[in-house]
Amino acid sequence: DWKLQDLLEEQIELIKSAVGPNEHAICALSGGVDSTVAATLVHKALGDRLHCVFVDNGLLRYKEQERVMETFKRELHLPVVCVDASTDFLSRLRGVTDPEQKRKIIGAQFISVFDKFACHLEEELGKTATFLVQGTLYPDVIESCPPPGSGKGHSHTIKSHHNVGGLPAVMKLKLLEPLKWLFKDEVRKLGKLLGVPESFLKRHPFPGPGLAVRILGEVTESHLEMLRQADEIFVNSIKEAGLYDEIWQAFAVLIPVKTVGVQGDRRTHAYPVILRAITSEDGMTADTYEFKNKFVKDVTGKICNTVRGVNRVAYDFTSKPPATVEWE
Ligand code: XMP
Repeated sequence: DWKLQDLLEEQIELIKSAVGPNEHAICALSGGVDSTVAATLVHKALGDRLHCVFVDNGLLRYKEQERVMETFKRELHLPVVCVDASTDFLSRLRGVTDPEQKRKIIGAQFISVFDKFACHLEEELGKTATFLVQGTLYPDVIESCPPPGSGKGHSHTIKSHHNVGGLPAVMKLKLLEPLKWLFKDEVRKLGKLLGVPESFLKRHPFPGPGLAVRILGEVTESHLEMLRQADEIFVNSIKEAGLYDEIWQAFAVLIPVKTVGVQGDRRTHAYPVILRAITSEDGMTADTYEFKNKFVKDVTGKICNTVRGVNRVAYDFTSKPPATVEWE
């Protein structure tokens, strides 16, 4: 793809000239497509002046930290440091139920982790980090701050994306966003050009604020635990059925109301889990993925039988619009 090859070379040159010879950059790797491709691209331009960090914010999926660190080590030859900041994130989120508030707190916590990482580089290694690499894509830019008269249909911010807008004002680091003009399918192609393994490129998108936007209301340890298990069962069943690559994104959502059920010979008062799976071209609009009924019934059975605290499962049939992909 000539257009992408040109863009790649152009971005590498731009980064080389923007970042001075004694300056360093930090990149938060999430294990997803965007940050992995962004880091690989910047690494081509800066080499060992790029320092990657994987932040465990306590809002990750089942065994995500172990799995991602292992894959980074095995398949991607980028140096990555793992920072466990879960206690900080979860304590700041305690008692918070407003969706925008949750996103803002998480964004601020990420910044504080990046700032601390920059201080560590400076104090321990004498390296001055001046840039932060973000895997921001074009749809993120449009949905967070639509250009006036862009005709993209949004008159104001839909929700504050953790990786767009607001950040530079409070943060000492300047942003490097080499994928800012691309859509997801282009990022996947660019990743292929850069030699990023398929296992990364095929992963479903996962939002920066993690499970916090899939646990409605307050984020608690017990809700995280339930959601992780339900989500793992759903996504594994999709993989086993060979459907993963047909779907843009599939996940579970936990809502903070209880319904009555009967499990074994006991009446229960427990939480429902919502399953959501969609197809999409770019995340800006989406259609419901239609499973066979039997598939959804089997997953429902597995979830209710194994996840303590869940006694009901529902499937979300809403497209985007009117709904967004995530529930918050
Ligand atoms: P929505 O819910 O806005 O989601 O329809 C569109 C796509 O964006 C992902 N998403 C995010 N990704 N930071 C991210 O990196 C975020 O704050 C964020 N919020 C939503 C969502 O998973 C979907 O793929």
